[in-house]
Amino acid sequence: MNQAEKEQYLREYALLKNEGKPFFPYAVAKDAIMAMIVMAVIMLLSLMFGAELGPAVNPTTTTYVPRPDWYFFFLFELLRVMRNAPKMTDLATLGVPTLCMVGLFLLPLYDRSPERLITRRPVALAAGIATIVCIAYLTYSGAVVGSPNQLVLPVPAGLTKAQKATFLAGEIIVGESGCEGCHEIGTYGNNGPGPLLTHIGSILRPGGIASTLKNPTAPMPSFAGLAKSSPKKFDELVQFLSMLHYNSSSWTG
Ligand code: HEC
Repeated sequence: MNQAEKEQYLREYALLKNEGKPFFPYAVAKDAIMAMIVMAVIMLLSLMFGAELGPAVNPTTTTYVPRPDWYFFFLFELLRVMRNAPKMTDLATLGVPTLCMVGLFLLPLYDRSPERLITRRPVALAAGIATIVCIAYLTYSGAVVGSPNQLVLPVPAGLTKAQKATFLAGEIIVGESGCEGCHEIGTYGNNGPGPLLTHIGSILRPGGIASTLKNPTAPMPSFAGLAKSSPKKFDELVQFLSMLHYNSSSWTG
């Protein structure tokens, strides 16, 4: 802002201030009324529709796959995008949002333009739209992905079409079932307490895998319930595991 602009601003400010109304009580009263209307609408909605609380909590579950609330989907998606680069995860999920916040905080220091009209501020406008589009896109993709633990493994060569479909279904079922809480599969999951499953297909036959899932040794939970409630899913899970014959060099490339 140069000297002339500054003087013009101060002149206009003095004029407007003269004909305006003081903040207290006018603006305060207006805000208070609006706040009360919003509160009343929320109360009315909660009386009419109630709040959905979801199923009762099961404190003993070991296979629960947590998902964030919708307004954190963009951060969650950022984490998911970075899962194949564990070293970058902190940078993506803490670094990038923090840098953006700091940038916003320092805005008055580096944006000294006196322009107020949005059409005369192309850089700010573009940056604002880009931010909204990025967050909207990440929120959307975070909302529509399946389980955050869904596996994406290289599909083994030489599968028939049906086997390939089973393989892809298995990647989703493993993610939903929480196996990665205890097992490492390829670059996914935790190393223990359960053994590595990356080449479980070379160790156990399908029958052995199925009986392990139904009658496991603690702490592994039994998946007999899944076999009962959706036999197809259970079968796909067993078939999928028996297709895992990766050796460690498939991952290190
Ligand atoms: C709470 C931890 C936990 C969870 C969750 C879990 N497991 Fe296990 N799993 C184990 C442990 C511990 C063992 C070793 C038990 C043993 O050897 O008797 C094991 C053993 C196995 C074995 C036998 C491995 C071998 O080499 O003999 C298979 C197969 C297996 N789990 C598959 C799965 C699948 C598939 C899921 C998800 C549907 C799953 N597990 C979920 C802990 C877990």
